Amino acid sequence: MNHNISSKSPIGIFDSGIGGLTVAKAVMDKLPNEDIIYFGDTARVPYGIKSEETVSKYSTQIAKFLIGQGVKMIIIACNTASAAAFKAVQAAAGNIPVLNVIDAGTAAAIQSGKKVIGVIGTLGTVSSGAYDVSLKQANGALTIKSKACPMLVPLAEEGWTDNEVALQTLDIYLSPFRNNGVEALILGCTHYPLFKQPIQEYFAEKGLEIIDSAESVAAMAENKLDGLNLLNDNTNPGAFTCYVSDRPQRFHELAERFLGREPENVFVESLKD
Ligand code: DGL
Repeated sequence: MNHNISSKSPIGIFDSGIGGLTVAKAVMDKLPNEDIIYFGDTARVPYGIKSEETVSKYSTQIAKFLIGQGVKMIIIACNTASAAAFKAVQAAAGNIPVLNVIDAGTAAAIQSGKKVIGVIGTLGTVSSGAYDVSLKQANGALTIKSKACPMLVPLAEEGWTDNEVALQTLDIYLSPFRNNGVEALILGCTHYPLFKQPIQEYFAEKGLEIIDSAESVAAMAENKLDGLNLLNDNTNPGAFTCYVSDRPQRFHELAERFLGREPENVFVESLKD
């Protein structure tokens, strides 16, 4: 289906919840003049432990909502949804370009020139093998070592990113990467950029390269829009509109943690099956 899009149309970004605001922030930093519509499925988060079918169904519903808002691009900020639903979202989007964080993280890993790549993410992302497939397709000679780190999502939401509990949890998850030859580590989850500094410090001696898929997808969005002549030439700061499927307790506190500021325009929108 052909949708009517122009350079003035907003960019749509979605996630299972509020964590994807790390991606929205990276896109805003890179493309400050673009209007952005964000959808966080706060009523149904987390996606990381759900089946592929369910994540695909939810993601398609959200994509249809964003298309209805007239977006010119859809960015799947959620790694779990990128793994489970990229093709389904593309099918729903027709001529609207769809980007996902897994392809973006892969592109950055390839660019790093490293040969042994570590991936950390939710159970859903890691067990789908989506990063492995994507990295191997890009370069069959790569060695990939992945690990699910499910406790990092609740820790990030609690704001526990560098206290004793966080550092011990990181140590339990990351210690295998100290001696398994990994040269670059992909942060394959919306919540993990919040641990970037402690992770960098943890591997300081080893000099491991940390790949933040939020930053990578923002760079990819700029290239793609530029190539399609769809970059907004607006000189004012773009508008940011945030939709959530439920307003969770402590919403503002959480949103500020991931976005770096409180979002102004927040609406509740429940999606139907
Ligand atoms: N947004 C998810 C991801 O990036 C993490 C939170 C969840 O499990 O829904 O995989």
